[in-house]
Amino acid sequence: MTSPSVSKTSPEALTLAEVTRIREDFPIFGRQVNGHPLVYLDTAATSQRPLAVLGAMRSFDLQHNGSVHRGAHTLAAESTELFETVRAEVAAFLGADADEVVWTKNATEGLNLIASAFVNASAGRGGPDADIFALHPGDEILITESEHHSNLVPWQEVSAHTGATLRWIPLGDDGELRLDLLDDLLTERTRVVAFAQVSNVLGGIVPVSRIVARAREVGALTVLDVCQSAPHLPLDLHTLGVDFAALSGHKMLGPTGVGCAYGRRELWKAMPPFLTGGSTITTVTMDHTDFIDPPERFEAGTQMTEQVVGLGAAVRYLQQVGMPRIAAWEQMLGTRLAEGVTTIPGVRLLGPSAGRPRTGLVSVDVEGVHAHDVGQLLDAQGIAVRVGHHCAQPVHHRYGVTASTRASTYLYNTPSEVDAFLDALSGVRHYFGVGA
Ligand SMILES: Cc1ncc(COP(=O)(O)O)c(C=O)c1O
Repeated sequence: MTSPSVSKTSPEALTLAEVTRIREDFPIFGRQVNGHPLVYLDTAATSQRPLAVLGAMRSFDLQHNGSVHRGAHTLAAESTELFETVRAEVAAFLGADADEVVWTKNATEGLNLIASAFVNASAGRGGPDADIFALHPGDEILITESEHHSNLVPWQEVSAHTGATLRWIPLGDDGELRLDLLDDLLTERTRVVAFAQVSNVLGGIVPVSRIVARAREVGALTVLDVCQSAPHLPLDLHTLGVDFAALSGHKMLGPTGVGCAYGRRELWKAMPPFLTGGSTITTVTMDHTDFIDPPERFEAGTQMTEQVVGLGAAVRYLQQVGMPRIAAWEQMLGTRLAEGVTTIPGVRLLGPSAGRPRTGLVSVDVEGVHAHDVGQLLDAQGIAVRVGHHCAQPVHHRYGVTASTRASTYLYNTPSEVDAFLDALSGVRHYFGVGA
């Protein structure tokens, strides 16, 4: 057994009794997988959903379903009201105002929506108002080597369309961004800085304020990927001072098919539309369209109302439990994971060492065993982890591997589940006949 010595929680963390109670809200934890109780450590890919979320969506469909922002009948009005109420709730959860939140189908779409503004404005769309987004050869876009492909490929596209140069903050050997290079990389030429608060491979918490402060000094816009932070940490986008952010609902107890993009009000106003068509307009003639104000300008077509309602229930659930308490609980689980994996011979932690700020997410390389084999062996014991490149190939290249095994927690995971993972992981190399 490789269980680490440390399992302390800070006073504000959830208690085991509370987590045990929370688990009852998730019927999926009652099931067995391959003859073992399910140990779900793949929340970074997608979280499980509590009954409250399923119930909210069901009751919406059974009682209220109508088309949002269209139609004069009662059901349409009720649906619109629910839809807009959730917008305000999600905005409050993120430390933003309701009209700064645009619904998207996921974070990937949100990041593409934001990136597309730079392509469109550079091509002259949006007129002088959109000049703030126009990029030219000589301008620079700064990202990091630890980005998920969804916050990397869109910026490659922006660079290809505008002639702006793509640069990145490299990762150090210690699994953290080389912020010592920030002043050299973030210069007067930088127009956009796009980065994740928490990498979906490394799990470390990036000091957002430091990067935002530097970006402000040079007048660059900031785009924060909060996919792996908003579900796990208390967040206040206004206080952080970022210009844009994006997340996916399915990673924070909500359903798939809904996410959102945050933007400062005046930036959304200046931004040309992304997808166009129904719901994005005020007047249309055969040869001209006037577009409606944000956020609707960016919500083309019939929206994912039922999913928005589900996300509202998810956010209410998280707020009731309390984000600081969830964060403290997960920090304990993350430390236990990080300390535990470093004691297993032949297992290498990718990412910051155990004492550094992190969420409950660790990725490891098991020497001599492919991550897919690790995943299958763990699955045979009922343990669900993610294996592969996790849509972040450059991070893996940086650390000399093509794939890794990732365990990621949430408010419903327990220290004994972490220990079950560590136990199973410590048997992997022996099982495959690798090492001593
Ligand atoms: C850091 C990060 N950014 C973006 C994404 C993309 O999220 P989605 O696939 O829900 O659009 C993910 C998903 O894993 C992620 O972890």
